[in-house]
Formats: sequence, C-alpha cells, structure tokens
Amino acid sequence: MARSLTPLVGREHEVALLRDRWAQVQAGRGHIVVLSGEAGIGKSRLVQVVKDEIIGAAALRIEYRCSPYHQHSPLYPVITHLERALAWRQDDTSEDKLRKLEEALRPYPLPLVEMVPLLATLLSLPFPEDRYPPLILTPQRQKQKTLEGLLTWLLALTEQQPVLFVVEDLHWIDPSTLEFLTLLVEQGPTARLLTLLTCRPEFQSPWGLRTHLTPIALQRLPQPQAETMVARVTGGKALPPEVIAQIVAKTDGVPLFVEELTKTVLESGLLRETEGSYEQTAPFCPHWPFPPRCTTRSWPGWIAWRQSKRWPNWGPSWDAPSHMRCSRL
Ligand SMILES: Nc1ncnc2c1ncn2[C@@H]1O[C@H](COP(=O)(O)OP(=O)(O)O)[C@@H](O)[C@H]1O
Ligand SMILES: [Mg+2]
Repeated sequence: MARSLTPLVGREHEVALLRDRWAQVQAGRGHIVVLSGEAGIGKSRLVQVVKDEIIGAAALRIEYRCSPYHQHSPLYPVITHLERALAWRQDDTSEDKLRKLEEALRPYPLPLVEMVPLLATLLSLPFPEDRYPPLILTPQRQKQKTLEGLLTWLLALTEQQPVLFVVEDLHWIDPSTLEFLTLLVEQGPTARLLTLLTCRPEFQSPWGLRTHLTPIALQRLPQPQAETMVARVTGGKALPPEVIAQIVAKTDGVPLFVEELTKTVLESGLLRETEGSYEQTAPFCPHWPFPPRCTTRSWPGWIAWRQSKRWPNWGPSWDAPSHMRCSRL
C-alpha cells in the first residue's frame, strides 16, 4: 500500500488486542494472531497499523506474501522474501549471491555447512561442493530439513530482538509454506515473536484452539463509521447528504468499496469543489458514478476498471462501457 492511506476509522478493539499481544511478545510469550475477513475489509490496513504504530523501530519485520498465481509453487512466499531480504541484485553473480547468503546466516549459531546447501538449493543457487557437501537426501527429508532450518533461523533472530513475522493472504498459501507455519505454531510460543497472519474467510485454519493463538474476524464497518470514512476520503470536505447516503448504502461497510466509490464520485465531474464542500452540479446517471450492483463478486472488476481510468476531462469522448454511459449528458 504505497499510496497515501485513509486515516484509520474504528477498529479500536482490534488495535487494543494487537497492542496487548505485542506487549506479551516483548515479555517473551510468543503469539500468533489470525486476522480474517473478506477482500477489502481492512486486514492489510491493520497490519500497517501494527508496523507503523505498535511495534516501533527496535523490532525486526519479516514479511511473506502469498500470491494467487503461485499457490502451487512450493515455498514461493519464503523464496521471494529471502531474495528481497538478501538484497540480491540482477547483476549479482552466483558467488555474490552465495556470499550474501553466508553473511546473513553467519551472525547466528546455525550450522552453515548444512544450512547453506539447503537454502541455496531452495533458492536455485549453485554452491561449491568443495566447501559444502552435496545434499544426499530424499526430497521429503530435504523439505523437512529446509523447513526446520528456516524455523531455527527465525527463532535465532528473536534472540537478538523481538520480531514481527507477517504472512499475508493465507487463502493463497502453498502446502509447503503452510507446513512451515504449522511447525512454527507448534514451536513458537516461547520466542519473542508476533506472527500476524491474514486470510479471507475461506481459509480454514488447521491449528484449532491454542492459548498462544488469537483469531480476529474483521466485520464490516457500521454506518456511522462508513460515513466517517467517506469524510476522511474527501479530506473533511462535506458531500451532499444524499450522496453520502448513496455511498454508504451501496458499499455496505466494506472499507475498500467506500474508498473507491467516494473517489469515483469525486472524479465523476458531476460535483464542484468549493472551499469547504462539494456541490452537485449535474444529476447522477442510473449507473454512474454508482455502479448497478455492489457485491464482493462484482466489485473487483469494477475497481480494476475504475483504477485504470483518469477522468479529469470526463465528457463525450470518455470510453465508459456502454451500460454505464449516461444518455442525459
Ligand atoms: N478501518 C479503516 N479505516 C480507514 N481505511 C481503511 C480501513 N480499513 C481498510 N481501509 C482501507 O481500505 C482499503 C482496503 O483495505 P485492505 O487492508 O487492503 O483490505 P484487505 O487486506 O482486507 O483486502 C485500503 O485502501 C485501506 O487503507
Ligand atoms: Mg490485504
């Protein structure tokens, strides 16, 4: 989320819970929080709050991101994280990359002679067999040892400072990364480690109830908070009450939709900005700027389409899909 964020609305209870879990972690009681909720409900926004406002600079952050395109690539989130964390560059030679891997491991009490071949293999990096023995393991055993090595490394990091370990979008996780998380859930409670996992409701947590695991299910924003969010997106400038009511009704408390629809309304060319407010200058069309139906299923396409457009000069040449064109203009 590189663009500027809408200031946080609501979520006081969730933020308080996360603060409490971080305090526990700092006292040496590791914890796992599973943040679940539908697309656009604000899972990543809360992760951002933890990073910006809760953990502070003294903690290390490690972030894995699952991807819908790599659900069948074993350990894809681990590999992409390591490539970023090791600061591998495109013009690095294999020796450069190996050196960076060795330097990253060296500060910790880890058996390099085992770890380097395992991680180099994971990262498809050749390693010199005169310095490291080749791996003579079954694929299953090699995976097991890689996962154990990764966990040992993660726990070694927590000896030096508290760690925030985020894994985003578990509904797209591959089975091997899930196995890694299961190892962590089983072994992590004594480390200074806050594991923050996000997922949509379709992800079934395989870990059951545990004292060191807190599930947080994010609900839609109630109407007054949705109204507040509209005001935050407009930067505090008032919209006509009936426009606010339409936005709130169409978006049904999903923050992403509130943001996108409010921006669409502001960019529609049908409002004039004055010093303290926006005034409507022309009637809205049947399907524009409000889309005909707002459901989780129909919105992603609408939002992607909206985000690909720029409408400062909205007018006759504008290329909206025909069902959104307004015959009155
Ligand atoms: N409580 C909130 N207050 C303000 N903005 C929010 C809130 N929740 C979500 N948002 C915004 O809504 C958008 C979607 O939220 P995001 O965290 O990306 O959803 P998710 O990760 O659940 O799909 C983001 O732009 C985010 O900043
Ligand atoms: Mg997200």
